[in-house]
Amino acid sequence: MKTILTGIKPTGDIHLGNLLGAIRPAIELSKSGEYERALYFIADAHALTTVRDPKAYKQYVYEIAATWIALGLDTTKAIFFRQSDIKEVFELAWMLSCMTPKGDMNRAHSYKDRVQKNKEDGKDQDQGINMGLYNYPVLMSADILLYDTNDVPVGKDQIQHVEIARSIAGRCNEYFGEGTLVEPQEIIQKQGAYIPGLDGRKMSKSYGNIIPLWASEKKLKKTINKITTDSSAPEEPKDPNNCLIMEIYRLFASSEQVKSLEQRYREGIGWGYAKAELFEVVNAYLSGPREKFNYLMENKNEIDNVLLDGASKAQAIADETMQRVRKAVTGF
Ligand code: TYM
Repeated sequence: MKTILTGIKPTGDIHLGNLLGAIRPAIELSKSGEYERALYFIADAHALTTVRDPKAYKQYVYEIAATWIALGLDTTKAIFFRQSDIKEVFELAWMLSCMTPKGDMNRAHSYKDRVQKNKEDGKDQDQGINMGLYNYPVLMSADILLYDTNDVPVGKDQIQHVEIARSIAGRCNEYFGEGTLVEPQEIIQKQGAYIPGLDGRKMSKSYGNIIPLWASEKKLKKTINKITTDSSAPEEPKDPNNCLIMEIYRLFASSEQVKSLEQRYREGIGWGYAKAELFEVVNAYLSGPREKFNYLMENKNEIDNVLLDGASKAQAIADETMQRVRKAVTGF
């Protein structure tokens, strides 16, 4: 029995990086026939590390749910649920935190980066860092290990987190016997695992450089027009292999479209034209799902029903795992 699982944190402004690094590959993999079990969830407890407004919190949860459904997740086959509906994840997270050296958390990128930034700014190294952020990788390990997950499709920025989950599982198996926990593996796309944003850095809400998934057509066009380009003249030949626009274009266009645009690059193309081509393919991909997304956000009861069903299926798996793990760890 092979299991695939991934999660998205509901913090608002879901973007093209989330789609290409995680959601699209996860939906495709769930259809591949390789997995008996696919679990996809809204990592709402992780959002608590930053979100302080319950109204926004709730809205973000619905947005992530509507996103997966609008993009074609078959929720009759995959188990689709909200992380915090399954309370066992918090029990497992506590057990795992007791098996995790503090030093491993000190070395986790997201924490280390924040500490580094504080030091550069001359602040106390832990300023603004809550325990949720510090323990983030342990809760994420519990997410993965609770469902006996084999494969975790994620973008490059999450590799270390899956490695931590694997290492925690390995340690538990040493302490409590082989088979206590399944050791998971990350699945990284060859293309799409690291989508650059408008300015060329990783597309991320924290850099303010995202292309949002559900902006209106007009806003989408405006955002794509903001992609940073050099000042070369339209008639100058351009390298299609070293261009942000082309990098994203390749992930949405057909191979004929890619070939044709590459040719235009070599002949000389105005950046405005290249951006318009990119807008066309991205918009063509998103316009159907956008309607579905908007419909679901107006009909949240449909989302509630899907999540209720997903929670009951996820709960059954969590109950089984926790019985096994409690017995192995505590004897009870
Ligand atoms: P999150 O919500 O930040 O991102 C969701 C997914 O999108 C991917 N991603 C990207 N991929 C390519 N290019 C980008 N620019 C880009 N930006 C984001 C992320 O790698 C991720 O796969 N900690 C997780 C959520 C989580 C989780 C889990 C994931 C909680 N528990 C268990 C897998 C398994 C997170 O914050 O992802």
